[in-house]
Order: sequence, then C-alpha cells, then structure tokens
Amino acid sequence: MGPAAKFVTPGVLFILTLVFGFWLSRSGKPYHTLIFNIHKLIALAAVVVTAIQTFNALKIGERQPILIGLVIVIGVCAVALFVTGALMSAHKATGRATLTIHRIAPLLAVLAALGALYLLGGSA
Ligand code: HEM
Repeated sequence: MGPAAKFVTPGVLFILTLVFGFWLSRSGKPYHTLIFNIHKLIALAAVVVTAIQTFNALKIGERQPILIGLVIVIGVCAVALFVTGALMSAHKATGRATLTIHRIAPLLAVLAALGALYLLGGSA
C-alpha cells in the first residue's frame, strides 16, 4: 500500500468531521446534542487513525526535518481544534476568535497534510 492509500480512512473521517462541523454551526445554539457528539467523536476517531498511520509512515519511511515539522503543525492544529471546540461547547468562549481558530486550523492542517503526503510519496 502506497503512503497516500494509508491516509484514505483518515481523509474520509476528516471530511465527515467537516460536514458535521458545518451542520452543527448551521443548526444554531444551543448546540444540537446528537450532531455535536457525532462531530466530536468522528473528530476523535480521525485524530487517532491519523496518528497511528503517521506513526507507521514515519517508522518505515524517511524522516526528513520538513516532514517532522509538518507533522508537528498538524498535531498543533488538532490540539487547537479540541481546545477551541471544548471552549465553544462549554460556552466559555463565545467570542469570534475561538470560532475563527476552529475554522482556520482545519485549513492549515489540510495544507500541512498535503505537503507531508507529497514528501512521503517522494520517499516511498
Ligand atoms: C479534527 C477535528 C475537528 C475539525 C476538523 C472540526 C471542524 C469544524 C468545522 C469546519 C466547523 C464549522 C465551522 C463554521 O461554521 O465555519 C466546526 C464547528 C464546531 N465544532 Fe469542530 N472540528 C473538530 C473538532 C471538534 C471538537 C473535538 C469539538 C468539541 C469538543 C468541536 C466543537 C465544535 C463546535 C461546538 C462547533 C460549532 C461552532 C459554532 O458555529 O458555534 N469540534 N468544527
């Protein structure tokens, strides 16, 4: 299995997380419990599967510094998403900044992931 193929499941889970995230936003406040829980649990599953596949890819592949840097960026984005998600759901941060971070982090993670996949593909 090529490096990109290993990330099909994480990619699908990530897209589902986005879909449920936008749906959750559109459903208004207070947050719809079922949509919220699905969004949160799929996000968790996406992070776990991505972490496992990334660990395996780094174990067998080349470990270029840029690749490690991109993986760290993805990890920081994941932490930012969980922290801002928890803050929004606990109604502790109702300001625009929290939602803005929650919107930008997925974008940044996708860009970093594309770069990482490109580097992994090159070393396979
Ligand atoms: C991989 C992780 C995650 C991704 C990619 C993600 C992505 C998104 C996206 C794209 C939205 C829609 C934002 C918009 O309307 O522009 C959203 C909304 C939301 N997400 Fe997440 N999310 C993730 C994890 C989480 C987690 C772990 C939580 C909770 C602990 C969470 C809580 C929320 C909440 C409460 C909203 C609604 C925000 C609002 O419009 O008021 N998210 N998410």
